Amino acid sequence: MPDNSRSDNLLPAFLQLATCDYPEHVPSDRPAIYAQQQHELGLTYVRLAEFAWSRMEPRCGQFEWDWLDAAIDAYFAGGLKVVLCTPTPTPPAWLTRAHPEILPVDTQGRVREFGARRHYDFASPIYREHSRRITRAIAERYGQHEAVVGWQTDNEWACHNTGRSYGGASAEAFPDWLEAKYGSIDKLNTAWGNVFWSMEYSDWAQIKPPILTVAEPNPSHLLDYYRFCSSLIASFQAEQVAILRECSPDRFVTHNFMIFESSFDHYEVAKGLDFVSWDNYPTGMLEYFAPDGTQEAMKSHFARTGHPDLIGFNHDLYRGLLKGREGLGRTGEGTPSGPWVMEQQCGQVNWAPYNPLPEGGAVQLWTAQAWAHGMDVVSYFRWRAATMAQEVLHSGLLRHDETPDRGYAEVKTLNLNQFPLGEVAARVALLHDYDSLWLYDIQKHSAGLSYWTQTVTYYMALRSLGLDVDILHPDADLSGYAVVVAPALTLIKPEWVDTFAALAGSGTKLVFGPRTAFRTPGGETWANGQFGPMSELVSAKLLQFDSLRPGLTQDVRYGEGTFAATNWAESYRLDGAKAIASYVGGPQDGLPAVIRKGNVTVIGAHHQELISTVLSELLMNVGIQVESLPDGVRLSRRAGKTLLQNWNPHAVKLEGVKWQGRTLAPVSFAVLDG
Ligand code: GAL
Repeated sequence: MPDNSRSDNLLPAFLQLATCDYPEHVPSDRPAIYAQQQHELGLTYVRLAEFAWSRMEPRCGQFEWDWLDAAIDAYFAGGLKVVLCTPTPTPPAWLTRAHPEILPVDTQGRVREFGARRHYDFASPIYREHSRRITRAIAERYGQHEAVVGWQTDNEWACHNTGRSYGGASAEAFPDWLEAKYGSIDKLNTAWGNVFWSMEYSDWAQIKPPILTVAEPNPSHLLDYYRFCSSLIASFQAEQVAILRECSPDRFVTHNFMIFESSFDHYEVAKGLDFVSWDNYPTGMLEYFAPDGTQEAMKSHFARTGHPDLIGFNHDLYRGLLKGREGLGRTGEGTPSGPWVMEQQCGQVNWAPYNPLPEGGAVQLWTAQAWAHGMDVVSYFRWRAATMAQEVLHSGLLRHDETPDRGYAEVKTLNLNQFPLGEVAARVALLHDYDSLWLYDIQKHSAGLSYWTQTVTYYMALRSLGLDVDILHPDADLSGYAVVVAPALTLIKPEWVDTFAALAGSGTKLVFGPRTAFRTPGGETWANGQFGPMSELVSAKLLQFDSLRPGLTQDVRYGEGTFAATNWAESYRLDGAKAIASYVGGPQDGLPAVIRKGNVTVIGAHHQELISTVLSELLMNVGIQVESLPDGVRLSRRAGKTLLQNWNPHAVKLEGVKWQGRTLAPVSFAVLDG
């Protein structure tokens, strides 16, 4: 048996695998059997106990650890390392009934009841006390256990729209948070523009969560409520992390973030973690989380694999969450420093409107892509399909009857030695910020275009050109990138303008999308209009913006080509910048649509091909090789290797790209040198 103890301190050289298992769901003889099977399958880690509070503490203060002691020992004896979780996503019935005030409130002002999971308000002082109590109990019991290499806090913050509670403890705490932020009620009234519609307050106690208003609430009110709720998640987690650090030194602490989750500032919440993890469900993602405007044809075509760029976007987003920021990197001996995919789909999911069987080869392709996008560990959800309750239609590596399912067979034949760990060396950075996401989506102005849609459109354009992309916050270190693309930073902090100016001055090409720098950090527009403090850098001002309904397009002439923009088209008054594309016809006929001043380009119209044409010319100008990849064919590079992927359900013969003449089998990949 290999040394699976924490003292096995050789850093792994290749991708490692794991699974999520639930000893509380099965008879007590199962963990020993499962551990042996998991070890034989080549898995290194098992994640346990994120929903097991009612078994750890069946009644208040009465702990029952025997079952978990035995399970952890069994996995360890079988050769697995254990990742434990704080079980706070599932407050037990005894706690909820004794303290119904811990329950969250929805946007209709209704209490969200016990009977599923995540039924708590992050602001509840009582719930916080119990969260600290159970975290300490489990950390004291297992924090120094030889088998335990790390911790996951809670499970998927904000899953099932639980990132914000709109009543109860959150409603009570909101005025205090505002008072601490603004100091005086007049300042708040000014910052929110409350003179509009006579929304001015004369006392903090008059301010409530922004729900059930007759017309839409003030966007500044919403924005501050979102920031407030985000800060609650950050402080809730920080309380757990402090206890885990104290009781379980030299183990990592991570959290499993969700696909395209928008309700909190992930950069803020990730601070204090050692590395970031996320949960990857490619087919469910395409059916359920795909950004607005995703075409039905695309959903059908990629129904059995998910779309490579939606998945890639999430990998790159989570890989970048701690880059250049405050990650502590304390991972303990022998454990890769992440990021991880903490839950990887390995069969059907149960929660999307349609849940197709994955195509043969998809589990291997997802795993290979995760590696190539920087993940150090991929952990399959779940070991055995649940035989009870809400998720019986969800598959695992084993079927309900414990026979190996299709995903198991794919994991079994995967050669991990083709996936060396190492850097993803992207030369392009794409900027992302939650304040902009919130404000953009609070006032979309064009129903088909959300912040994610606009941002992902730029990402897809880059990926279709064969490029690797780092997704970063504007506060990250951006020096060294050849090209920095900011698709949708509608809210600009004045200090970022210095960063952008310095980058442009040092030769980096900057590309901005529509609505850039439209809003101040408070949510108003700049008094000097878009581009506010960036006006000099861009050397232009906004002239018009146009919201295009489905079927209404606006032509843009660029070089020899004409592109029919959808959803959004804005034009500029030039003040030193040059128009490199203009509108043709319609109310903006002849006005600048794409403008450039030195190294700074702004693309004002929404059209993926227009975006990729502008980007590809820029990239070639700075000497970056671009490809013109067929749909569903993608390239990703890591540690000196290139992962060539075909996500199509049919074979593809490559033409006009570097691997000219090569045929890729349906749903397949190849790892190539270089
Ligand atoms: C995740 C969640 C898991 C499980 C899974 C099913 O969002 O973390 O607990 O519910 O979905 O796909």
